[in-house]
Amino acid sequence: MTAAEFLYEVVGRRRDVRSEFTGEPVDPEVLRRVLTAAHQAPSVGLSQPWDFVLVEDEETRRAFHGHVRAERARFAGSLTGPAAKVFDGIKVEGVLDAPLSIVVTYDPARGAPAVLGRHAIADAGLYSVCLAIQNLWLTATAEGLGVGWVSFYREEFVRELLGIPEHVRPVAWLCVGPVERLADVPDLERAGWRSRIALDEVLHTERW
Ligand SMILES: Cc1cc2nc3c(=O)[nH]c(=O)nc-3n(C[C@H](O)[C@H](O)[C@H](O)COP(=O)(O)O)c2cc1C
Repeated sequence: MTAAEFLYEVVGRRRDVRSEFTGEPVDPEVLRRVLTAAHQAPSVGLSQPWDFVLVEDEETRRAFHGHVRAERARFAGSLTGPAAKVFDGIKVEGVLDAPLSIVVTYDPARGAPAVLGRHAIADAGLYSVCLAIQNLWLTATAEGLGVGWVSFYREEFVRELLGIPEHVRPVAWLCVGPVERLADVPDLERAGWRSRIALDEVLHTERW
């Protein structure tokens, strides 16, 4: 397989994981490689506005898990009809199944005030953090690890739980660990929540 073929294969194989964690620990050397890849992401003005908080402590993960359950219930309460029924069967996190959580944050003050390229688009800082997350996600996939992004939380709760400074935003709570296998089809598609759409539906030429 060429490097290009391997990269496309990993991109296609990557899944959001909630149920397939084996519970085994993450090899520290593998973790270091994956974090190094995340840290090599492009960033607006080379601001590198991310931090990574590694959370293994079960008590901390349990506290977060309780919060996620409450937020899940809040979202479920907003649903009606068939969506409510489908959502009922959907698992939205593997916080206690995965041995490690990696919380990725955004620090808008890093490199500020003169962040080259952010003067007109404040969100460019957040985009940069998401690219670090994607690097982490893809290299973790290549290493045989599963990653599950959890966003059923209030930022203040995570900030308080992990002692994150007031001006720093938690962007993602990632559940990470070895997996038996990765599903071929996204969980939400299998559950009947939504399906992937064809590329041609989102492709525009010259103008929208
Ligand atoms: C910003 C973001 C937030 C997400 N939050 C959650 C979440 O809270 N719970 C969850 O189960 N999946 C979450 N996901 C995963 C998506 O549901 C998943 O990426 C999508 O269904 C496509 O599946 P795939 O990643 O396996 O291709 C999130 C993904 C992104 C990019």
